[in-house]
Amino acid sequence: MISPVSDAAERGRHLVVAIDGPAASGKSSTAQWVASELGVRHVDSGALYRAATASALRRESESALWTEDFVLSAAADVTLVPGDTTFHARLAGASIEAELRGSDVTSRVFLVAKMPRVRAWVSALVQQAAEGYAVVVDGRDIGTVVFPQARLKIFLVADARERAKRRLIQRLERQPSETEVAAETTALVHRDAKDESQTQQAVDAVLIDTTYLTQEEQVQRIVALARQVGRSPGVDAG
Ligand code: DC
Repeated sequence: MISPVSDAAERGRHLVVAIDGPAASGKSSTAQWVASELGVRHVDSGALYRAATASALRRESESALWTEDFVLSAAADVTLVPGDTTFHARLAGASIEAELRGSDVTSRVFLVAKMPRVRAWVSALVQQAAEGYAVVVDGRDIGTVVFPQARLKIFLVADARERAKRRLIQRLERQPSETEVAAETTALVHRDAKDESQTQQAVDAVLIDTTYLTQEEQVQRIVALARQVGRSPGVDAG
């Protein structure tokens, strides 16, 4: 469900910041932080692919049997609901954050993300969200396909080993061993390959390599760029 836009004249006027990049490049946490600094809402487009996958899994655990029609029908139970600081993907009206991030969904979501009509469904939901609110949206194709007209596009990259290390620290809440980092790096490189076709840097995107940046540094860079475009005529940053 998306809140209705009260004034149709507002459509398309809100600030959109698009943040794309490969897995574990820190897109979602960065986008969330940037949105909070700007006082706007965050949309995690990957969460919609994950929610469609979770819904499909609940109906049929054997993903080899999933057709695009089947996944789309499962996706009909997914809604994108505006919260105070972020949009939440809900399944049958309920929050399912742990299920979305679990390994059952993570290992299968690439199948769903390859389906063109599922991609169109995600794009439409995210575009509707931006009709009513200024947003920071993260994903793979936000600056190229979903919002090719976004006023600010960022493409985040980081060395695979560094991304693996960050992800492990987040998951394990401790420093990972060398063996753990090596295994996670291999898994990430495999995931990158599966998502490669839809992970696109827009020609007008600002490339930020975060390998040697703290999260605060990357956030401040993006916020400064967003404030510049937010001051441009014709953009309502609220
Ligand atoms: O960012 P993530 O790990 O939550 O993304 C989950 C999956 O969805 C991953 O396979 C990439 C895919 N995805 C995509 O194809 N396009 C997007 N805009 C966002 C995510």
